[in-house]
Amino acid sequence: MGVRPLWVAARRPIVRFSVVSRRLSLGGRVFRDDALEGKTALITGGGSGLGLAMAERFVGLGARVFLVGRSADRLTAAAERLGHPDRVAHHAADVRDDAAVERAVAAAESRFGSVDVLVNNAAGNFLAATEDLSANAFNAVVQTVLYGTFHATQCVGRRMIRSGRGGSILNIVAGYAWTGSAFVVPSAVSKAGVLAMTRSLAVEWATYRIRVNAIAPGPFPTEGAWQRLMPADVEQSSLERIPAGRFGEPSELANLAAFLCGDASPYITGECVTIDGGRWLTSGGEFNALVRMPRDRLKELFAELRPKK
Ligand code: COA
Repeated sequence: MGVRPLWVAARRPIVRFSVVSRRLSLGGRVFRDDALEGKTALITGGGSGLGLAMAERFVGLGARVFLVGRSADRLTAAAERLGHPDRVAHHAADVRDDAAVERAVAAAESRFGSVDVLVNNAAGNFLAATEDLSANAFNAVVQTVLYGTFHATQCVGRRMIRSGRGGSILNIVAGYAWTGSAFVVPSAVSKAGVLAMTRSLAVEWATYRIRVNAIAPGPFPTEGAWQRLMPADVEQSSLERIPAGRFGEPSELANLAAFLCGDASPYITGECVTIDGGRWLTSGGEFNALVRMPRDRLKELFAELRPKK
C-alpha cells in the first residue's frame, strides 16, 4: 500500500464559520448550573466569537456578564442573544483607550456592584508580510492586544485590590506567544507580552487573592478569525497540522475559561493552558509529521526499519 496523501488525517469535513453559532451550544454538561453564581465577569471583545461563547457559558452557569466591545450594535445583539437582562449588560469601549476602559469598568461596577472576573479577550490581528507593515498597522494591533489587556487589567485589578475581594483574570493568548509566528508579528509580540504579564502579575497580585491565568487557543472557526486569518486555500493544511484531526469548538474553550475563572481552580495562577488539539507541539517534534501517515502503514515501516536478529 502506498503512502496516502496528507489530507487523509482530517477525519471531518472542514468546518465553516456559518455553523459556529450552532456549535456554541454544544459541549457536555460538565459544571453545576450555579458554578459561577454570584460572580460578575467583564469580557472584552464579548460581542462576538470566542468572547461571546465564553459569555454564553458564564451566563449559563449563573454569572452576571458585562460585555465590552467597540461596536454598540454588536453588543446589543449579543446581549439580546444571551437573554437574562437582569444578569447581562454591556458598554461600548475601545480597549486601546484607557479612559474609555475606565468608564466601562465603572459602568460595570455601578450596574453589578463589583467585577470578580476579567476576561481579556479583545484582539486585533491580520496576516501581513512584516516588511509591508506600516508603523500604524503595527501600532493598531499592539495597542489593542498588549496595551488593551494592560488597560483593563490595571483598571479592574486596582478595584479588586481596593475592595479586598480579589478575583480572577484570564488572558487569551496564542501558541505563538512562545514560538513566534511568521506573518503575524504584531500579534505575536503582543501575545508574548501578555503571557509575560500573566506570569508577572500572578506573582505580584497573589497577595491580593487575584489569580491571573491564560488560555492559548489553536484555530477555532469563528467568523472574525476565519475572515482575517484563514484564507480558504490554507484551511486544509492548517487542519492537517492538528493531531486531533479537527478544529476547536468554542464551547470547549468556554468550558476551560469557566474552570479557570471559577472556584474550582483556586490554586491555579500564572498558568497558561493550551487548547489546540496538540497543534503547537507538532511544529517542534522532528518526527511529528509521521502522525499524518496511516497508522498501520507506519507500524509496518517501523518493523521494516528494525534491525533483524
Ligand atoms: N494588512 C496590512 N495593514 C493593515 C491591515 C491588513 N490586513 N488591516 C489594517 N491595516 C493597517 C491599516 O492600513 C492602517 O495602517 P495605515 O494607517 O498605515 O494605512 C492600520 O492598520 C490601522 O488600520 P485601521 O483600518 O485604521 O483599523 P483599526 O485601527 O480600527 O483596527 C485592527 C486595526 C487590526 C485592530 C483591526 O483589524 C480590527 O479591528 N480587528 C478586530 C477584530 C480582530 O482582528 N479580531 C481578531 C481575530 S483573531
